[in-house]
Amino acid sequence: MTAKIINGQEIAAEIQAEVQEAVEAMQAKYGYVPGLATVLVGEDPASSTYVRMKQKRCAEVGIRSIGHSLPADITQGDLEKVVADLNADPEVNGILVQLPLPSHLDEEAVLNSIDLGKDVDGFHPVNIGRLAMKGRDPLFIPCTPYGVMVLLEKSGTQISGAEAVVLGRSNIVGLPVAMLLQKANATVTICHSRTKDLAAHTRNADIVVAAIGRREMVTGDMLKPGSTVIDVGINQKEDPTKKRGYRLVGDVDFDSAKEVAGAITPVPRGVGPMTIAMLLKNTLHAADLALANN
Ligand code: GUN
Repeated sequence: MTAKIINGQEIAAEIQAEVQEAVEAMQAKYGYVPGLATVLVGEDPASSTYVRMKQKRCAEVGIRSIGHSLPADITQGDLEKVVADLNADPEVNGILVQLPLPSHLDEEAVLNSIDLGKDVDGFHPVNIGRLAMKGRDPLFIPCTPYGVMVLLEKSGTQISGAEAVVLGRSNIVGLPVAMLLQKANATVTICHSRTKDLAAHTRNADIVVAAIGRREMVTGDMLKPGSTVIDVGINQKEDPTKKRGYRLVGDVDFDSAKEVAGAITPVPRGVGPMTIAMLLKNTLHAADLALANN
């Protein structure tokens, strides 16, 4: 059996088109244009690329983006002052502080300083707390986990009652994905680097979300036939046929996994494009909240 390929690029484009339509309607009705502030500290090439991509996609849907590029040696106080100014700026609906921050900075304190109503990344401790609690909902769902849930829904995967295994427990992906799956009534197991027999867990899983950061670690023999596999990993693999000398692969060995799974996301064009699509959606939501509060 060959798995159905879940086309994240196509689904992200649909969401982006919906956001664009809603932004245009907002502008026509209220004369209001949503704004996203991006905060980049230092010059990490991957982070710089991600921020540039986010700004480009904002422009495509008519969201204003306001970019702040700050020096790598900025003080905690100066960074929090930038956030405080953005909190107070009525033209800014969403604030995105690109992570990771340089190690001398206190990430938790910075995330804590973001206005809850502008926390379009969903990383504020209160938003994460609400995500964890029964009967509560966050104002914003973290973008990559949100994208994972949309891909599961669009692929027709039954989440309620499913056995779901999340590989990885990062604050940005693994943990929030596990909480969202649990909210959607899956039975969730979180596996990580100390898990004794990873394959025993994945072989029992109807849904596997791989966000462990290890190249092609999940192979077809570790999967339950017919399961849905969502690959969040982005890793470089040497490939002399490519101009840059490498290609991108996920945490799942796609070739063997697609022979066993029922549905699977590719890398690239799987989860990756969804992260920014959900950020655009969250920024629109933030603008809706701002309008409702005025
Ligand atoms: N670093 C890696 N992923 C993300 C993300 O979704 N948001 C932010 N702010 N930083 C990240």
